[in-house]
Amino acid sequence: MTLEALAALSGAAGLTPGQADHMVENAVGVFGLPLGVAMNFVVNGREVLVPMAIEEPSVVAGASFMAKLARAGGGFQATSSEPQMIAQLQVLDLKDPDEARRRVLDHQAEILAEVDQVDPVIAGLGGGARDLEARVLRETAIGPMLIVHLIVDVRDAMGANAVNTAAERLAPRLEQLTGGRVHLRILSNLADRRLASARCRIPVSTLAFGDYSGERVRDGIIEAWAFAEADPYRAATHNKGILNGVDAVVIATGNDWRAIEAGAHAYAARSGRYTSLSRWSTGSDGGLEGELEMPMALSTVGGATRVHPAARAALELMGVRSARELAEVIVSVGLAQNLAALRALATEGIQRGHMGLHARQVAIAAGATGEMVERVAQRMVEEGLVRIDRARELLEGPSAAAGPRSETKA
Ligand code: MEV
Repeated sequence: MTLEALAALSGAAGLTPGQADHMVENAVGVFGLPLGVAMNFVVNGREVLVPMAIEEPSVVAGASFMAKLARAGGGFQATSSEPQMIAQLQVLDLKDPDEARRRVLDHQAEILAEVDQVDPVIAGLGGGARDLEARVLRETAIGPMLIVHLIVDVRDAMGANAVNTAAERLAPRLEQLTGGRVHLRILSNLADRRLASARCRIPVSTLAFGDYSGERVRDGIIEAWAFAEADPYRAATHNKGILNGVDAVVIATGNDWRAIEAGAHAYAARSGRYTSLSRWSTGSDGGLEGELEMPMALSTVGGATRVHPAARAALELMGVRSARELAEVIVSVGLAQNLAALRALATEGIQRGHMGLHARQVAIAAGATGEMVERVAQRMVEEGLVRIDRARELLEGPSAAAGPRSETKA
């Protein structure tokens, strides 16, 4: 990496208040997050270092450890669909919505050609308008309406600007064709034509640790997954664990994590019942097999990915050459993160691994600096008592540290 990129990643030369002022309104400064690098990832045969911006302890360690287990089974195999985004146009005040729908579909080729004229840049890069869909929503709170989907291949852009512009330009033509009134013109975050998926296979012997056999860990993970598959209350937490990994890389690379979150949850509910985004099973050789598929609307060329020095450096560190390749790495991280959570939950519980890092945060919050952070944290973990009042006692000195303990255990 260049020294400039390293300085950006270290925080020494990250986003300046001046740059921030060009990005949002009323900027008064910039906001930092820890940036960790997950290790051991092999995605489609390529070693990749994964930058993760996240405030939560254990996430970077969990991803790195599970990537190491997956490496024993050949790493992650990931694929992605063409980068197609959906723009929605809502057509109201139609006398005959079905007839309007037919007219739109009859003029599909001509409409798509018009859209490509509006954005020759994307078309020049190999993207452009690909498809048109039209649905009548018969029963809404205000009566029937026609919804037209314009599908655009946005290449390495996230695509919001491209498809929103295309939808706005297309609106007068749709009004002319249908005789209706086009109301909303906006992308859909349920980007189900822009999916990324990852698979991994963990040899069963690799899963064994302590008193836990590999078979027991594997079966425990599958039992945990089955719970999420059947129950929305558990699925929400299960998917949150996936998004711990996904969002951290999305944020580190300057991408829109709200769009990813919205897409993930809507995709998880696509059957009409909210469920797990991932799937775990036993392979024919007895190993643990996992897969994850979710929408991935990402950019490697526009917006903050280019303006934010640390986001640029993060992309450089990963060595990804396209938004699709970035999506394939990120979905692999999501699968690894899910495995980390399920493995911990299915065996010794989540708190044990969490406590060491959590204790450091508690120590810092109590005022510890330098080597005292580790000393106070270690002591609290040994005592099984991770609380700010105990951290303060320990910081006040040896006599206070040996003094009376609080009642509750962490
Ligand atoms: C915590 O941030 C994420 C987990 O709750 C995920 C899960 O329960 O699967 C550990």
